[in-house]
Formats: sequence, C-alpha cells, structure tokens
Amino acid sequence: MEDNVSVGLLGVGVVGSGVISLIEKHQEKIAHQLGCHVHVKSALVRNPNKARDVDEEINGTALTTDPDDVLNDPEIDVIVEVMGGIEEARESILKAFAAKKHVVTANKDLVALHGAELHEAAAKNKCDFYYEASVAGGIPILRGITDGFASDHIEQLMGIVNGTTNYILTKMHNEGVSYEDALKEAQQLGFAEADPAADVEGLDAARKMAILGRLAFSTYIDLEDVEVTGIRDIELADLQYGDNLGFTMKLIGFAKFDGKQVEVNVQPALISKDHPLADVKNEYNAVYVYGEAVGEAMFYGAGAGSMPTASAVISDVVTVIKNMHRGVTGSQIVEPRFKKELKPKDQRFGQYYVRFHAKDEAGVFSRVSSLFNDLDISFKQILQNPSNSPDTAEIVVITHYSSLEKMHQALEELENLASVLDVNSFYKVEGDADA
Ligand code: HSE
Repeated sequence: MEDNVSVGLLGVGVVGSGVISLIEKHQEKIAHQLGCHVHVKSALVRNPNKARDVDEEINGTALTTDPDDVLNDPEIDVIVEVMGGIEEARESILKAFAAKKHVVTANKDLVALHGAELHEAAAKNKCDFYYEASVAGGIPILRGITDGFASDHIEQLMGIVNGTTNYILTKMHNEGVSYEDALKEAQQLGFAEADPAADVEGLDAARKMAILGRLAFSTYIDLEDVEVTGIRDIELADLQYGDNLGFTMKLIGFAKFDGKQVEVNVQPALISKDHPLADVKNEYNAVYVYGEAVGEAMFYGAGAGSMPTASAVISDVVTVIKNMHRGVTGSQIVEPRFKKELKPKDQRFGQYYVRFHAKDEAGVFSRVSSLFNDLDISFKQILQNPSNSPDTAEIVVITHYSSLEKMHQALEELENLASVLDVNSFYKVEGDADA
C-alpha cells in the first residue's frame, strides 16, 4: 500500500479551496481510516492573476493553468473536478478516465446532462466515478440511497434541494417580505447561483432530482423528463392562505417509482405543517425518502458552502482510495436495472390547492361545486373572502386526492364559467395525512 495518494484538483474556487484546507485539517482522521496520507498535489486555476501567482503553493499544492499538468501527472490517481461549467469539465473528466484516473466531481449540471456517458467511460476504463457533492452539498444523500438503502425499494423521494429558493420562501412566509426583496437578500448572502434564474426557475433543483431519481430507481432519468415550475410567480396571498389552512409553501422535487413507471418533477407545493419537510427553513436542504422496508427517513443539512461541499467531495475521495486498496471499482451505477417509462398524467394523483375570483352572487358556489363534482373531484377545505374589488369573492379550495388530468380539465372549465373572473393560483398539496 502506498504511503501517500496524490489528488489532482480542477478548480480552486469556493469548493476547491475548501477541499485543500479540509484534507490538510482532517489529515489525521483520513490517514487513520485509509492507512495512508492524502495530498492535493496540484491544482488547475483559471485565472493566475486572481490574488495569487501561478507557481505559488497553497498548503503545498502546486497551482497551474495547464490542465495537462494535472491530468497527465502519473503520480496522480484521483482527479477532483470542482471548476463547474459543462464542456471543459466533461472533456477533462473523459481525459482523466482515458488516463486511468478515478474522478470525483461536485458538478450537478454535468452529471445531470452527461451522467450516462461519464459512467460508461468510467466503467470502460475500470475507474471510479463519484459525485456525492452534486446533490444537497454536505448531506450524504447519494451514499445514503445507494448504500444505506441497498436492499430496499425506494418508492418516493421529496427534496428541498435548493437553498436559495428555500431561503426566499421562508422569508416570504415568516416575515411577509416580497419575492423580489427576499431574492435580493439571498443574493447578498451568497446562496444564489451566479445566474439566479437557475435557482428560482427550478432548474438547479431539477438537475439534482434527475440525479437522485436515477440512483434511487436505477433508471436513466434525463433532465428533460423532469417537469419544472419555479417560484417567480408565487404571491404572498397564497402563502398566507396556505398558512391559515395548515400548510407551508416549499419548492419540492418529487420523484416516484411504482416499480414500472416513474414521475419526476419540481414545483412549488403546499406542505402540511405536520410533515417533517415543513420545518426545513432558510437555506437548509432536506431529502425525505420513503422506502418499502425502511418507511420514512429524512436527511437534513447544509446544501451548499465551502466546507459542507468539501466534506462530501472528500468522502468520495476516501471511498475511491478504499476501492483502490481493495483492487475494485465501485461506481455508483453500472447499468440501470429498469428501462425508463414515464407515468402519464391520467395516472398521476394528488391533492391540489386552487385560488380563484368569482362574482359574489347567488348560485356561483353551486355552479363551481357541480363542475368539480362532475369530474369526481371532492373538496376537502373551502374558504371564501370578499375580494378587494366590489361584488367579487376570492375563493380558495383544497381538494381530496384527485387525478391530475381531471384537475387540469376542471381548471379549464372553471376559467370558462361566466361567473368566474380568473383562476389565480394552482398548487400541489403534500403531506396531508387524511387526504
Ligand atoms: N444555488 C444552489 C442552492 C447552490 O441555492 O441550493 C447549491 O447547488
């Protein structure tokens, strides 16, 4: 067994510098587990003038602007890619596999888009490919799913996997601040991605859900299979009505598998305050898992940040080195077990929240309820308030379990009723035990 394993780092940003310092700081613990030391030998930096010189060293790590200095170094066994972006990262990882080096990445965009190709290249070159940090930062959720639930059938996942949107929704809910002001605060605190569109439009969460769904259900879920709705259009009124009815608004990634068909989506949903996800506040992430054997389980923690993400990256490095010592590779998925089959809308069921405005006159309520009744949709809760406009009522309905297809039909018919002025909001409701 070697005395020292050398790691090559691609990228020394927030996560990369965390990796260098955490490996040094916790070297004793790592060495105790592995029986050898781990050292970041060299690191690729994009901008040599950014507050350092190229040939300067950080904690004994040589910095370079040439990727080949890292990728072609025969002493380096493990490449850690934390530079982000898609094409350059993809090419570097493929080059690393071709040079028989194991790869660890935190790059969710890349894994969501090119995971299948990268797994194939890893398997072909008998290399490891791990990406624990790509989903929910410091929470060991991928390993939890693949190893912790190795013998179980995971039926459902629900994740709060984007800290920025969770922070925004928490602020709106707790302090009644507007979406715009809450976003500004999240940006100032540094949670939001460089382009916050990926966060608030749900794309960041969709990428993470595609990765989670693949590992949980052993089927390739493409990014375009994930239906996405962001949080831009959420109004304070819906958060307040939700609160009064016993719910909290969260951006939720759902993934369900019935053993045959899969459904993955990201959308704002009203979560019952009795559900553990309702207590996940501010920038925190959590993934709720329902397994046939385990029942309910939930993983909670920091979804981003230098040290939490570095901790997940290094857990992968440690796994790779354990595999090296055993002479095996343990890539997380080799071949998916199931051919992907998406669940059609008429077979998807849920509880729903609708807010609409109608003329405040006799007979409106009975027309609305017979419309829903004819579609076999039953109301669980109804609220009616006078609206700000004269002779207009604001009506909020929460349904019992209904077909999504029928709900869409009901909304279309509702909009066409002469006495209905608009259908303002439509959200899924989750976690209501007696739906
Ligand atoms: N922008 C992401 C978030 C960072 O807010 O969760 C981690 O992917």
